[in-house]
Amino acid sequence: MNGLSVFRLLAITATFVAAGNAQADSSGKWQSSQEVYNKVCAYCHEANVAPVLTGRNLIPQYIQVIVRNGNRAMPSFRESEISDATLAGVIKLVSTSAPGALK
Ligand code: HEC
Repeated sequence: MNGLSVFRLLAITATFVAAGNAQADSSGKWQSSQEVYNKVCAYCHEANVAPVLTGRNLIPQYIQVIVRNGNRAMPSFRESEISDATLAGVIKLVSTSAPGALK
């Protein structure tokens, strides 16, 4: 490895760390928890396919268990699909949302 490529590696690492601060998902799929809600959860939960989640003060641990394990027609999502950190953000959004706030 020459000097230039070491420099480029450092630059790439710095970019990745900066993105991490902006809640980037370790699976590399998502920019933010809001994006996961909009593109994954809302597909069913804002479309009369699944129960509305907003405005219900759902308990964070309950949401976590359902998302990681699924429940009947609710699919499960692994950490390789939604990281723990990103899911924590989704759970916070959902559990503290006002009715219809995340549409
Ligand atoms: C493919 C459709 C689909 C997607 C995508 C989906 N869900 Fe669900 N979800 C369901 C269905 C259907 C149920 C109702 C399951 C049942 O009770 O039979 C459900 C139930 C739930 C429940 C329990 C609700 C209650 O009233 O007790 C929670 C919490 C939940 N989902 C969270 C999420 C979150 C967070 C996401 C995004 C990461 C998500 N779901 C993505 C279909 C989906």
